[in-house]
Amino acid sequence: MLAYHEGLSRGGISATTSIPIGTVKSHVTRGAEAARGQEVDVKIGVIGSGTVAQTLAAGFIRHGHAIMVGTRDQAQLRDWAAANPKALLGSPAQVAAYAEVLVLAVKGTAAAAALRLIGAPALQGKVVIDATNPIADLPPQNGVLRFFTTLDGSLMEQLQLEYPAARFVKAFNSVGALRMVNPQYAGGEPTMFICGNDAVAKQAVTGILSQFGWESADMGGVTAARAIEPLCMLWCIPGLLRNEWTHAFKLLK
Ligand SMILES: NC(=O)c1ccc[n+]([C@@H]2O[C@H](COP(=O)([O-])OP(=O)(O)OC[C@H]3O[C@@H](n4cnc5c(N)ncnc54)[C@H](OP(=O)(O)O)[C@@H]3O)[C@@H](O)[C@H]2O)c1
Repeated sequence: MLAYHEGLSRGGISATTSIPIGTVKSHVTRGAEAARGQEVDVKIGVIGSGTVAQTLAAGFIRHGHAIMVGTRDQAQLRDWAAANPKALLGSPAQVAAYAEVLVLAVKGTAAAAALRLIGAPALQGKVVIDATNPIADLPPQNGVLRFFTTLDGSLMEQLQLEYPAARFVKAFNSVGALRMVNPQYAGGEPTMFICGNDAVAKQAVTGILSQFGWESADMGGVTAARAIEPLCMLWCIPGLLRNEWTHAFKLLK
């Protein structure tokens, strides 16, 4: 057991906290466990304080994972932390130091800035579940969101290029936050489209998605984010036009 003393806060109560950190198995082992369908219990770090970060962090707690949430301003999470006393709070850099798997859940326009707060050395080898979408600060047109990327590129490609040693996996970007954790549909398990360059990282994410009630559809390497990120545009159209926000995609074969 190692002790970690960095003025982290537990349940919103700021204090110097000693966090026991057990032996960290390699990502390879974790990925292999996930591939065999075994429950994986890894330390998860969520970067963000918005609806997605709060929802996924609560989901990880429900599934027995140790969790730390990272934000530039912990006061934003005071109410959430009070309702989720098992969660640790920290800065984005503290979260990256703590976690084996990171979830990036920040505004798309701020994704690069948020990772720069962590820095390349701390991201080396980390699995980064990228839930972001490259939504521009522009109003939708006829219910269609505007992106700051084109179809010949994607936000995750930009991030992977800037941090080549991080293992990005796109996931959770094509459904509303309220349906991310164990959604119930008459049509069965919905499909989460994922992509990324690292097969072992995708195995680990597939294991997490399975816990969260999703089947995964692996679309290949990071370039496929060009197709998966715009699913967010498609998903939002019924919401923006007709206030319908409860659907999810399913791939029929
Ligand atoms: N809302 C949904 O239902 C949904 C569904 C699927 C995917 N997504 C995607 O998931 C991501 C998060 O969405 P959200 O609705 O939960 O929250 P959001 O309002 O899009 O983003 C809030 C987060 O952005 C961070 N942020 C903003 N400016 C920043 C900056 N300059 N530097 C660093 N961080 C900055 C904030 O960090 P601090 O905590 O440090 O303030 C905060 O955590 C987005 O990319 C969104 O497109 C959302």
